[in-house]
Amino acid sequence: MRIVVLVSGSGSNLQAVIDAVASGELTLDIAAVGADRHGTGGVERSAAAGLETFVVNFKDYATRAEWDRALLQTVSSYQPDYVISSGFMRIVAPGFIDAFPGRYINTHPALLPSFPGAHGVRDALAYGVKVTGCTVHYADAGVDTGPIIAQRAVPVEDGDSEESLHERIKVAERELLVQVLGALGNAGT
Ligand code: GAR
Repeated sequence: MRIVVLVSGSGSNLQAVIDAVASGELTLDIAAVGADRHGTGGVERSAAAGLETFVVNFKDYATRAEWDRALLQTVSSYQPDYVISSGFMRIVAPGFIDAFPGRYINTHPALLPSFPGAHGVRDALAYGVKVTGCTVHYADAGVDTGPIIAQRAVPVEDGDSEESLHERIKVAERELLVQVLGALGNAGT
């Protein structure tokens, strides 16, 4: 199974996948790690791990459609079985979803369909929920929408800040992502 991982940030969830591959817990090929901007921790840690990396820098394209085309072309060139959005903070075009039907997967730090968007942890905390968590799902062209593959609940603790809650969610999220990738690999591609 070949995967391409897309990141916009620190890539700590991606690191869990890199570690699981290195330890033999996961048997898959990380064909490449790509970002929508320069200077992401995700690309830096991937390069350090000797992985192929790319940046399709959103700001370098005059139009959204041109960026969409460049992203699709670059990701497709690695011929992945699955594309993983691991903290990739951009909505892809419908054409991207069509190119990878049932093969584009996103991870989100809330129990979808509650609290989609870029601030899932902050929004859950502000609402005052007592339990939140994380979701791995097949992504469509919406904002954190698409069929759910797996979820894990994380209790909100008194005095939690966005950071402390997100850190605990990420512990669960990393395990969940590795577990889902393992199951997809076992299901065969
Ligand atoms: C993760 O918690 C991921 O679920 C979230 O960004 C974080 C990335 O962390 N994604 C979203 O909020 C998507 N709506 P990381 O870069 O340390 O893996």
